[in-house]
Amino acid sequence: MLEKLEALYQQASQELDGVNTSEALKEWERAYIGRKGAVTLMLRQTGQLPPEQRADFGRRANEIKRLLTEAFAAREALIREQELARSMEEGQIDVTLPGRPVLTGGLHPATQTLREIYAIWAEMGFQVYRSRDVETDEVNFELLNIPPHHPARDMWDTFHTTMPGVILRTHTSPGQIHAMRDYGENGTLPIRVILPGMCYRYEQITARSEIQFNQVEGLAIGRNIRMTDLKGTIAEFARRMFGANRAVRFRASHFPFTEPSMEVDVQCILCGGEGCGVCKYTGWLEIMGCGMVHPVVLRNGGYDPTEWSGFAFGMGPERITMLKHGIEDIRYFWSNDLRFLEQF
Ligand code: PHE
Repeated sequence: MLEKLEALYQQASQELDGVNTSEALKEWERAYIGRKGAVTLMLRQTGQLPPEQRADFGRRANEIKRLLTEAFAAREALIREQELARSMEEGQIDVTLPGRPVLTGGLHPATQTLREIYAIWAEMGFQVYRSRDVETDEVNFELLNIPPHHPARDMWDTFHTTMPGVILRTHTSPGQIHAMRDYGENGTLPIRVILPGMCYRYEQITARSEIQFNQVEGLAIGRNIRMTDLKGTIAEFARRMFGANRAVRFRASHFPFTEPSMEVDVQCILCGGEGCGVCKYTGWLEIMGCGMVHPVVLRNGGYDPTEWSGFAFGMGPERITMLKHGIEDIRYFWSNDLRFLEQF
């Protein structure tokens, strides 16, 4: 009887090793350890054995049933895993298909240029100062030495709000007044700031002019600041921004809030000065206006012009970006066309 039991155990174990599907596994369970399985039946026969054999046989039969039940559970887990893997391989889901990329977005080309500009001025000791977009006529024009009748106002027509005297700034230069008044402590402290931000002009929108655009203003106030400081600082900026071997030139110009005033050209960054379509065959590109802060403006900012002097400059990052990437139409910048923006 015991031999029969051991033989049955051998057979059941061997068969279980060959079971590979859950149907076959159920079959095996029924045949051996189920309610009418061979092992179960044999266990039930313990009572018919002679009394002296019952204990040994019963113990062994119970042990075998336990071992087979455990082996069954292990096999069941293995088969479930294999069947899952098989169904994933054969099923609708193609796990080898590459996933959809997550759209990460990017920085606007004007922002990229702005950050480049900030970094260069930061290295030269200039701090970013934010000034308001909505201005008064007084700060945008009058305190900058542009009285109501001044012809320069034609160049800077803007958007007016329903509040009298409240407009959208036409340039970042009114920030000079705010910086002097807020940071100057009644005209006693030197200043080195750049003032970036949006400006607005009432213009016909064309490939070359938009109704909104960024500017980066710069202001340095101190004792004994001279035109050589202005020229040296601007030349150094251009060197860092456009490369060491680009020549820079200063041309006399006019702004009501600087005296003397200049415009700055850099050797064409595309043709290197030989002449091309971008520089209109002149070899030079205009990058900013600048000058020594006008005594009237210094006084309006709270500084005594007999003691203090300074320089200011203003540049257009979109223009610089256009030059750098050969962009021919300024309207691309603020029309939110992803086909344009995704190129940067
Ligand atoms: N505000 C001038 C403009 O919009 C630029 C400028 C700034 C010129 C500072 C001189 C000094 O054109």
